[in-house]
Amino acid sequence: MTTSPLHTLIADEIAQRGPIPFVDFMTRCLYHPQHGYYMHPRIRIGKEGDFFTSSSVHALFGGLLARQLVEMDTLLGAGAFTLVEQGAGEGHLMRDVLDAVRRDAPAFYDRLQVRLVEVSPDNRRRQALQLTEHSDRIDWCSFEELPLFTGCFLSNELVDAFPVHMVEMRDGVLSEVYVTATDKGFGELFLPPSTLALAAHFDWLGVAPCEGNRAEINLAAVQWMRAVATKLQRGFALTIDYGYPAVELYAPHRRNGTLMCYHRHSAGEDPYVRVGEQDLTAHVDFTALAQAGAEVGLDPICLTEQYRFLMALGFVEELIRLEAQTVDPIQAQGLRMTLKHLIMPDEGMGTTFKVLVQGKGVGCPALLCQRRMADLPLPI
Ligand SMILES: C[S@@+](CC[C@H](N)C(=O)[O-])C[C@H]1O[C@@H](n2cnc3c(N)ncnc32)[C@H](O)[C@@H]1O
Repeated sequence: MTTSPLHTLIADEIAQRGPIPFVDFMTRCLYHPQHGYYMHPRIRIGKEGDFFTSSSVHALFGGLLARQLVEMDTLLGAGAFTLVEQGAGEGHLMRDVLDAVRRDAPAFYDRLQVRLVEVSPDNRRRQALQLTEHSDRIDWCSFEELPLFTGCFLSNELVDAFPVHMVEMRDGVLSEVYVTATDKGFGELFLPPSTLALAAHFDWLGVAPCEGNRAEINLAAVQWMRAVATKLQRGFALTIDYGYPAVELYAPHRRNGTLMCYHRHSAGEDPYVRVGEQDLTAHVDFTALAQAGAEVGLDPICLTEQYRFLMALGFVEELIRLEAQTVDPIQAQGLRMTLKHLIMPDEGMGTTFKVLVQGKGVGCPALLCQRRMADLPLPI
């Protein structure tokens, strides 16, 4: 069996320390300083990478998001506005947002400051290359260094990357998944939870997995949401990711949880292969995010599916405009097929992806992205 350098390092650690909680295994797989999936040089996003994100599908995604940011700027009084993006990947989303804001709202663009919070040195380099045209308004910093700001805290497919504890409900008792190592590879063992925080999390949430079901707990996401609230003086948090409200995430039919592995556009369920060479993710619990935020002053404004969010921001009229600019019918069909991914359910990103908007010190405005289908103007 050929193993990666990270596989050997983790196996050595387990040989010395004993079995480690799955959350520690996932942390090393993604964030080991040299060999972690996000840390070493690699094309991760797009056709040449392991997975697509909405912003790598088409610039329209960032263009529509820009419309929402323009409205947020108006609601905040059109003063100093900082746009923070944590986990900007290749920088596609920020590039498309800034291109659209510069084109459609130049006065806002002039006032806009951007801060990127990125854990991966490789992605920081890629973002800098992608964003050269806008470099005069962009800074990078760690989350801790981020000063108090007014504006919007944006993330797209960040929270699904946070390492999760893996648990199973067995005979009415919560057990935690630990990772073991043998000559044949990694294995699993069920032990009492490594921290009381796991059972406390389900008490706090008011939902727990059913007997026999495996589930993930993203404690880091809850802590992160609370921390975001402390950084935001006034404004919005806009979190986009795949996930569900807690009752759906921990529903009886979800027997094996939601952990997924991505490598060269194939989705797998075995986290113990290609260690450090494949992405590991778990669906996001949006109830936990909204509840954690609400406890520390982030008012929930809306939680909606990505297709509704994009439709409300003018997806159809933009599709028609882009199609009208395309003379070649084959290209027009290609455009339709590409954009369909952003809004289609199941195989597309339309319903599994959710958008959570929270506000601090802004009341409860009815945002553009909340417009109901029935209220959208019919395209001419
Ligand atoms: C799936 S990519 C997101 C892609 C991007 N937002 C887009 O729209 O294409 C996840 C990103 O989050 C970054 N990341 C993961 N964990 C992070 C953390 N704790 N802090 C900051 N960035 C993180 C990764 O390096 C990567 O840039």
